[in-house]
Amino acid sequence: MQLQNVVLIDHPVIQTKLTELRDYTADHRKFRALLNEIASLMVYEVTRDWPTTPRPVQTPMERMTGRVLARRVTLVPILRAGLGMAEGVLRLLPDARLGHLGVYRDEKTLEPVSYYQKLPPDIAATEVLLIDPMLATGGSALAAVHVLKNSGVTSLKFVCLVAAPEGIAALHRQYPEVPIFCAAVDRQLNEKGYILPGLGDAGDRLFGT
Ligand code: PRP
Ligand code: URA
Repeated sequence: MQLQNVVLIDHPVIQTKLTELRDYTADHRKFRALLNEIASLMVYEVTRDWPTTPRPVQTPMERMTGRVLARRVTLVPILRAGLGMAEGVLRLLPDARLGHLGVYRDEKTLEPVSYYQKLPPDIAATEVLLIDPMLATGGSALAAVHVLKNSGVTSLKFVCLVAAPEGIAALHRQYPEVPIFCAAVDRQLNEKGYILPGLGDAGDRLFGT
């Protein structure tokens, strides 16, 4: 499948862990560990094009000029399930700050309900990764991207594990410039807005609720 501005990270190690994660017998302890491990592994690909800036460094042998990330990084998990990826991303980007956006789907209408918002004040000047394991109807991601754009964010990537074609279309209809990084594009949504084959309710599986 060729999708514009969608990066499918089809790495064998990620696919192995994603298959284990989908397995309905994985309990919340295993689910949490796998979700963080996959998020860590995705970071390399997601951050590949971030600009760097020269920085002098004294090695034990001599002085040289190395390179470091040019801009600060802000991680924004969509609560709750996005929290399950945050620790894994922070393992590779330990200096990142965290913003939080609370959004849940109304079970009947499937419309996003925003209930919490706390972002670093200078978020507009940073590289922002919006993280959530699931992109289903796209409503939650759209609501979150809207908040971030209104906060002046220009460098923004959406990172998820499983995306539905419906969610990709909905997010890119409004924000085609926001790249979507995922480990799988699944078949479709069911009548209740769940991804098929998917992995079920990510928040419930992560937190054991
Ligand atoms: C899940 C998931 C996404 C959203 C995706 O959250 O973590 O945020 O659903 O669905 P959408 O693309 O149709 O909006 P949920 O609403 O279950 O909230 P929770 O993480 O608090 O359980
Ligand atoms: N949210 C989830 O957690 N899972 C889905 O399949 C769809 C939305």
